[in-house]
Amino acid sequence: MGRIHRLSAELANQIAAGEVVERPASVVKELVENAIDAGASRIAITIEQGGKRLIRVEDDGDGMSPEDAELALARHATSKIASAEDLAAILTHGFRGEALPAIASVSHFVLRTRAADAIAGTEIRVNAGTLASVREVAAPLGTSVEVADLFYGLPARRKFLKADGAETVQVSRTTTQLALAYPEIGFTLASGGRMLLQCPPVGSRRDRFFQLYGDRPDLVEVAKEAAGISVSGLVASLTDQGPKRGPQNVFVNRRIVKDRTIAHAIVEAFSVASVKERSPEVHLFVEMPPEEVDVNVHPTKAEVRFRNQSLVHEVVKRAISEALGKTSAPELQLQPPPPFQPAPSAPAFPGLIAGVFPSRWVPPTRADEAPFPSPSPAPAHGPGAVAASAAMPDAPWGLRPLIPLGQFRDTFIIAVDDEGISIIDQHVAHERVLFERVMERLTAGRLESQRLLEPLVLELPAAAHDVLLARQAELDRFGFELASFGGRSVRVAAVPALLSPDESIAALREMGEDLEGLNRGGTVGEGLQRIAALTACHAAVKANCPLTQEKMVHILDELRKTAYSSVCPHGRPVMLRLTRREVERNFQRI
Ligand SMILES: Nc1ncnc2c1ncn2[C@@H]1O[C@H](COP(=O)(O)OP(=O)(O)O)[C@@H](O)[C@H]1O
Ligand SMILES: [Mg+2]
Repeated sequence: MGRIHRLSAELANQIAAGEVVERPASVVKELVENAIDAGASRIAITIEQGGKRLIRVEDDGDGMSPEDAELALARHATSKIASAEDLAAILTHGFRGEALPAIASVSHFVLRTRAADAIAGTEIRVNAGTLASVREVAAPLGTSVEVADLFYGLPARRKFLKADGAETVQVSRTTTQLALAYPEIGFTLASGGRMLLQCPPVGSRRDRFFQLYGDRPDLVEVAKEAAGISVSGLVASLTDQGPKRGPQNVFVNRRIVKDRTIAHAIVEAFSVASVKERSPEVHLFVEMPPEEVDVNVHPTKAEVRFRNQSLVHEVVKRAISEALGKTSAPELQLQPPPPFQPAPSAPAFPGLIAGVFPSRWVPPTRADEAPFPSPSPAPAHGPGAVAASAAMPDAPWGLRPLIPLGQFRDTFIIAVDDEGISIIDQHVAHERVLFERVMERLTAGRLESQRLLEPLVLELPAAAHDVLLARQAELDRFGFELASFGGRSVRVAAVPALLSPDESIAALREMGEDLEGLNRGGTVGEGLQRIAALTACHAAVKANCPLTQEKMVHILDELRKTAYSSVCPHGRPVMLRLTRREVERNFQRI
């Protein structure tokens, strides 16, 4: 004897009912959808005890012949589709022929119906899936279905129903949604003899909305058509308090759906404009060709599948964004990173004044290393970087390598790391890097010098002339070799290796002026510092200067070794930092 046997029709129906019929509201939905499919212009819903005791749905639609009425209660009997092709573009709510037999299998069920061309109507009674009677009755045109004692004899299922009040709310919500989708159909909902909803047929969705929700100046209208998809309806507007939490009624081709793609598009559209409410009130009607959406993916047809999901997402999102009138991104706020250098007015290298370099300035380890590496990428983790990171435990964004993306106006390097976006002033950054390098070199002795083929003669203001000659020894450490050339002229025989002859001259002129202020009281250390700053400034890349990728990488790598010093030797900021947090906050992602 085999162990497999066919389930009885009743049992099969009860199992189906478990999928289709969850609670009174789902019965109401199935019955009302049948009435809509039958072309009803008025649908009257009556419930008792939240629908647990009784659900009655009456319509003035096409009705059924006696034969059809009996067939309607058989499983998989439907008048709405005939072939597999029909499934591809379903225009009706029903198509599976499951609802009536399923509902009848878990209740005391009465169907009364009369078609337009029939004199008499048909009444069929079913008790928990067992046919009790079929008889001819006098009946108005259309169909009436009564579902009494839902889940009687099924305590396990009845147990899951909520209190009468809560079930009534659900029925009312479902009815409201159906009424919203079909303004041309009149709806009434009565519960325990009380009229909960009364919507005569109207000419527009707007009028229906008013019947259901009253005047709602807090909602804005959505209207968009793109790529064969139309999106209309009303959504919460943005007030100072942000949109309020509210019902989310989403319809696709007049079918109420819970769809993740659309839900996500709603959240995104609102989150661009406001972070306040993740579940704002929306009443959205999405229409598209029926073949673009598969409704046959869920037992209660609450979920659908779009052929082009991302397109639907985009159109819905844009529709709402446009309605909210806030499509442009909010202005991002740039904040300079918290400085960890001394205030700009303070000496940049206080240790130098005391004759001692701060411990983080580590002289280069390889004596033969060129003082200023060529633009070829420098190793990111030089000994200097290690020392710097050890000495900078409070560096706000650690010492992550910055990845240069490009330049803005040939002046600023845009760079990113995992924790933020940095805008780096290329000149100031390079200046900072060179300054530290120069200071490092000085601790080891002197900078590399290049002898000029033709000595340069420089005419200077008298004071500057005297000052430069007075600082000859210091300038010599940088690689400058000067001598008086009579009057106010100086003769320059050699310059620092990192400066071009032109830049050397410009630097010397500025040094003449700059050092003048130090003339009497300035220490040797201060003098060196000023010379270093000006040397670095003239050796650094300029603003309005296109940089190769390698050069940018080099500057950022070098900058990293200075623990991302936040100000240049003259106190100007090196970079502006847009933290990940700030970016996410502005895009409403947190
Ligand atoms: N209110 C109604 N008016 C007219 N015909 C109806 C009505 N309700 C159901 N029917 C008929 O009964 C059939 C079965 O209904 P149902 O079990 O809900 O399956 P489906 O709606 O998927 O076809 C329908 O195809 C329709 O022909
Ligand atoms: Mg149906």
